[in-house]
Amino acid sequence: MRNKNTLFIGKVLHRFSSLSSTNDHAAQLLLSQPVSEGTVILTGHQTAGRGQMGNTWEAEAGKNLTLSVVLHPRFLPARHQFDLNQAVALAVRDTIAHLTGMDVKIKWPNDLLLEERKICGILIQNTLSGAYLQASIIGIGMNVNQQSFPPGLTRAGSMLLATKVDYDLEHVLWELLHRLEGRYLRLKQNGVEEIRQEYLSHLFRMNERHPYAYADGQRFYGRICDIDRSGKLMLETDKGIELFGLKEIQYLY
Ligand code: BTN
Repeated sequence: MRNKNTLFIGKVLHRFSSLSSTNDHAAQLLLSQPVSEGTVILTGHQTAGRGQMGNTWEAEAGKNLTLSVVLHPRFLPARHQFDLNQAVALAVRDTIAHLTGMDVKIKWPNDLLLEERKICGILIQNTLSGAYLQASIIGIGMNVNQQSFPPGLTRAGSMLLATKVDYDLEHVLWELLHRLEGRYLRLKQNGVEEIRQEYLSHLFRMNERHPYAYADGQRFYGRICDIDRSGKLMLETDKGIELFGLKEIQYLY
């Protein structure tokens, strides 16, 4: 499948052999000129890839997908921006599940796990216009054919490591863009409840009791029971229902 089955995502596609970060490049582009919806920035090698919470994103050159997609979700109120995270995470999940034939879990807020190993990270950067989103940079780092990871990354994996299949990156790219467009259009057409339910149905540790830690390191047991509209994780703990933002909880294993 090559550039055949999307309406607008990937119609403009900028390819680079090397870039600091596709998200940074997309942000610079948005500052300097009008960027049509669905524009994709793709590179085989990032020298300063960015992850969530100020982390870096390391991916072996030429083995993985590192890309950013620019969207203009002007229909989405800023307070509902997590709806977009859910749609994107589901699109990536669907793609990996389809290509590997395996069960893929979404680890809140938007990591993708295959056999409990992280094989994809998503970094979404939004700009607002008043109470609504104006532009959204959807940064996706998918570990496709990488065979080994630095010793520090003990929970990282790739599609190849899980399935022993070497994937055609171009094929993976268009499978991904196709699904991303589908979920995005569904979100635009009032599909949020369906997306929310599907997201929860694939959520890692949903309704299971597991150990976690608060930001101060104190350990506790809890059961993920829901996610609120703003994207906070809801856990049933000994104290009742507690809500967590991104930096407020750590998963323990
Ligand atoms: C995470 O921390 O899990 C998010 C990682 C997001 C990485 C991708 S790779 C393409 C895009 N450009 C970046 O600099 N980061 C995102």
